[in-house]
Amino acid sequence: MALTDFLNITLSVPNPTELESFWNRRGLATTAPGQLGTTERASQIYLQEGPYRHVAEITLACSSHDDLVRIFSRLEGLGLDAQRGDDWVRVKDPTLDHSVRIEVGSATPLIPAASRQLNAPGVIVRENRRSEAAIRVDVPRPRRVGHVVFGSTDPQATVDFYVKGLGFRVSDRLPDVDATFLRCSKDHHNILILPSPVPCMNHYALEMDDFDGIGLRGVEVVQERPDASVYGMGRHVVGSNIFWYLLDPAGGMFEFFSDMDQITDDDLWDRDLRRDDWDPFTIASYESGTSKMDFFLPSDIDVIAAGREAAGL
Ligand SMILES: [Fe+2]
Repeated sequence: MALTDFLNITLSVPNPTELESFWNRRGLATTAPGQLGTTERASQIYLQEGPYRHVAEITLACSSHDDLVRIFSRLEGLGLDAQRGDDWVRVKDPTLDHSVRIEVGSATPLIPAASRQLNAPGVIVRENRRSEAAIRVDVPRPRRVGHVVFGSTDPQATVDFYVKGLGFRVSDRLPDVDATFLRCSKDHHNILILPSPVPCMNHYALEMDDFDGIGLRGVEVVQERPDASVYGMGRHVVGSNIFWYLLDPAGGMFEFFSDMDQITDDDLWDRDLRRDDWDPFTIASYESGTSKMDFFLPSDIDVIAAGREAAGL
């Protein structure tokens, strides 16, 4: 695969200082001015000030300089005005208007999560010991930014840009809701494209070690703002990830996730979900505290539409 990793996102919001402080309290460190990072990866979220909330840029990694040349050539073939340096390419997403930067390299490997010994009916693997999860001292920190979800007014054109232009692969599609799950790494999805009346970010997602990490950090957010929970906890059917969706102080939805499907061989991945009872809202195998309409469309979509209009988009 030419593309190897999803490296980081740049969020533009009216009050980046407030958002930086929020993420500092969730365990992300300020590693440089306007830059938030995790223990292994110093740049995961860049913050910048802007008149309305949106993703300004995403950064991807590719394997080699030859891959970069091929990506540049494909983008030109699509009639897009891409810029190129020695070890990077940058292009504007023609449907969503944010910038996409591709660098030669790869993400820093993650320190493996501590293996947990989980007792289950008939399977006792932890005897005479308390669970590490029950007696841990430190609240787990997010490990990385894993994916971002966009709403598009022309989902097929957006998917074509990521697949034909940049080389993303399709992991799953939900035709009933015109949703396409795309990956540029082993993750089941690094980008998901949904339909929307206005181009927008639906959510960005940070990986936690496990269920307990999601719960501990999610509860922190709800203790600060009782109305911050949007959807979850639960487990998705598509991607299999455990999730909890919450709102950041800028009004952006984010997800703490864990245990996502990993795809290393397209031939072994079954893209045909063996279920025939899908309806547009069958997106979780279980869920709680849900407001699904808020999940699909940001409640401040009118503000985003006005911001885009004022920006001449
Ligand atoms: Fe997600």
